[in-house]
Amino acid sequence: MLSYQHIYHAGNLADVHKHASLCTLLQHLTRKEKPLSYLETHAGRGIYDLSSEEALKTKEAEQGFLKMVKNQKISGHIYFELEQRIEKEIGDNIYAGSAFIAEALLRPTDSIHLMELHPREYQALYQFMRYPNTHLHHRDGYEGGLALCPPHPRRGILVIDPSFEVKTEYDKAANFILKLHKKWPEGVLFLWYPVLKEAYHQSMVEKLLKAGLPKLYQSEIRFPKAKTGLLGSGIIIINPPYQSEIELNDIKKWF
Ligand SMILES: C[S@@+](CC[C@H](N)C(=O)[O-])C[C@H]1O[C@@H](n2cnc3c(N)ncnc32)[C@H](O)[C@@H]1O
Repeated sequence: MLSYQHIYHAGNLADVHKHASLCTLLQHLTRKEKPLSYLETHAGRGIYDLSSEEALKTKEAEQGFLKMVKNQKISGHIYFELEQRIEKEIGDNIYAGSAFIAEALLRPTDSIHLMELHPREYQALYQFMRYPNTHLHHRDGYEGGLALCPPHPRRGILVIDPSFEVKTEYDKAANFILKLHKKWPEGVLFLWYPVLKEAYHQSMVEKLLKAGLPKLYQSEIRFPKAKTGLLGSGIIIINPPYQSEIELNDIKKWF
């Protein structure tokens, strides 16, 4: 099923949690000069226009990124600085998603692989994300992730940001991480998941916590005013970079 389009949700509170955490991870990983690989299984379209009809239909960014900017909650953070720079360079109301954040923070020597299955999202990705170090894949991210890992260079990060349109996706994501970790034990694996009233995420989180993975970081945020729909946002990171947990925990305080 491919009916989800991230443009309706771009810049919402979950994106703030996810994208600020991603910026923090990339900032840590690029402290060493050694090149790295960035892979993403569910890339979306790279950049989102917050003044588009779709984004204005839900106005989710108004309660998320835009509100935090107004309240100055995120001033000084690399995520805020990056989003501001991208808006200045590309145009008013442009919000960078994960793929474009990676493009902006990584170096020409790093290698980027973006996977996206939806034909329209892939088309947009193809339009905006053509850079010499970036490889675009119109394919299933789970299949592609396993085929491309361990990547070259071996040092690196893989981002898993599914749309969770079906209940089985939680189990699929957990199994994917366990398989991938076996193939690429040193890889940083970054998973985002939604917290819903039905708490579908719980069995996925338990499975990963009980799997005996050597280094696992988990963080969950509840959105203060949410009563229905998306109640919160969660991330799981296997092999978080040294000391990144301190800064990842600081992000939680924004909510
Ligand atoms: C939550 S959105 C991604 C948002 C993006 N990571 C960001 O932060 O800007 C999930 C994306 O996964 C795509 N998708 C769904 N199933 C997929 C699959 N099996 N393989 C690759 N992409 C998939 C959807 O079309 C959608 O664009």
